[in-house]
Amino acid sequence: MDSIDLRSDTVSWPTPEMRQAMANAPVGDDVYGEDPTINRLQDLAAERLGKEAALFVSSGTQGNILAVLTHCTRGSEVIIGREAHVFRREVGGAAALGGIQLNTVPVQHDGTLGLADLEHEIRDTHDVHNPLTRLVCLENTQGSCAGAPLSAGYTRSVRALCDRYGLALHIDGARLFNAAAALNVSAAELVAPADSISICLSKGLCAPVGSLLVGSREFIARARRNRKMLGGGMRQAGILAAAGLIALEKMTLRLADDHATARQLAEGIRQMSGLRLSYEPVLTNMVFFELDESVALNATQFAEALARDYNVRIGPAGARSFRAVTHYWITPEAIETALTGMRHILESTRQPA
Ligand SMILES: Cc1ncc(COP(=O)(O)O)c(C=O)c1O
Repeated sequence: MDSIDLRSDTVSWPTPEMRQAMANAPVGDDVYGEDPTINRLQDLAAERLGKEAALFVSSGTQGNILAVLTHCTRGSEVIIGREAHVFRREVGGAAALGGIQLNTVPVQHDGTLGLADLEHEIRDTHDVHNPLTRLVCLENTQGSCAGAPLSAGYTRSVRALCDRYGLALHIDGARLFNAAAALNVSAAELVAPADSISICLSKGLCAPVGSLLVGSREFIARARRNRKMLGGGMRQAGILAAAGLIALEKMTLRLADDHATARQLAEGIRQMSGLRLSYEPVLTNMVFFELDESVALNATQFAEALARDYNVRIGPAGARSFRAVTHYWITPEAIETALTGMRHILESTRQPA
């Protein structure tokens, strides 16, 4: 039996419909701009986000580094959240590949970056000592805050700040459609204030590979050159884009189901003695929780017992804490199995009174 894998939504497999579409996809050489399936996917992504153009890229990391390289110059600076994926988990690409400095501000409980904090870090261009601030980068949903969605209103206020100082705005929208589903607004409304957005097809949307960088026609043309420089020019990758089309057309419509299973998991954890939620509210597909002081196991031991005895996988996030992420393959029944396993492990480790 396949495991109930709650470690991430990146573990979501392509659906049978995706596999079929991949087998039958019309393809061409995309470096020549001749892959009809990629062209369709790029047009659809641009349309869905209300922008002029999009570029199919290999991963969220590639979409973000292309955004940074295309907006910035060597020695310039990006202001970004201290817990942002781009800062924490993208291998220092901005510095290594672009000579670009990341300047961080705290991420607030709701996933936003404080406007005053942002403004404080924008450099005075008249001072010859300063790097030039070029870009502000937001993350929507914000992974470190259990996938908190950022509202369109908040993003507009960041845009207004960027406009005052002549800065560009990029959104790492790896889970943008989760934010749209949670806030019940269109993805286009959420990113209207941004110059560029990266979205991922291979997280909760189930495509096996692929992300898109979206923005103006002129910006995407420059990003295309940078993608080639990074070795990211692909050929008959329409085979991958075919799954991406289903991800965008269909899988974005069902994300509220994943948010419901995340709430179901959170509710079960809230009621379980030995566990407590680390972050509330649970608004999208991530649940952060931890072992309380009464439990004589650490996170690794608890996760190993759950995998070994109940075939349920969760990711330790710290010595006593976890992250669980719901996705297409996680049903309400799977959540019940996970909760039952957790309850049994906690009961079996409890000392008799
Ligand atoms: C918020 C966020 N941005 C970017 C990425 C990078 O995506 P990829 O793993 O496709 O490079 C991730 C990956 O989990 C992510 O969570």
